[in-house]
Amino acid sequence: MAIERTLSIIKPDATRRNLTGQINARFEEQGLSIVAQKRIRLTLEQAQAFYDVHKERAFFEDLCNFMITGPVVAQVLVGEDAITKNRDIMGATNPANADEGTIRKDFAESIEANSVHGSDAPETAAKEISFFFSELEIVG
Ligand code: CMP
Repeated sequence: MAIERTLSIIKPDATRRNLTGQINARFEEQGLSIVAQKRIRLTLEQAQAFYDVHKERAFFEDLCNFMITGPVVAQVLVGEDAITKNRDIMGATNPANADEGTIRKDFAESIEANSVHGSDAPETAAKEISFFFSELEIVG
């Protein structure tokens, strides 16, 4: 196992319900460190650029519109196997399929308003981290 970085986003459905602290506690309790974090309001153009990989999908427009309904918290998580570990902590994209004890099982409202995003591979993690953060803002 290697020490990895991954990009996490706490989505508007979760910030609206004041769940930032509870979600961060799950990361920290399960061995991930939050080494960068900012609460921001995405513009539509930024949401579209972030999710560009999904631009051909039927849900793209709704997803981007949802991501600008309120603040998000972008963060860099670090730890052993952080990319896979974060995906395990989050649970399946669709909360109906998420395991017990995962963030999405406990907090997500729907497949779209699913409380958190996490990078899915090392290349996407690097790209997504640099979308939100400069190296100066990542403090291990
Ligand atoms: P996320 O991990 O942020 O990556 C893309 C997002 O698209 C996903 O979580 C969901 O919130 C959203 N989404 C909406 N509908 C779907 C769908 N049918 N399949 C996958 N993702 C979806």
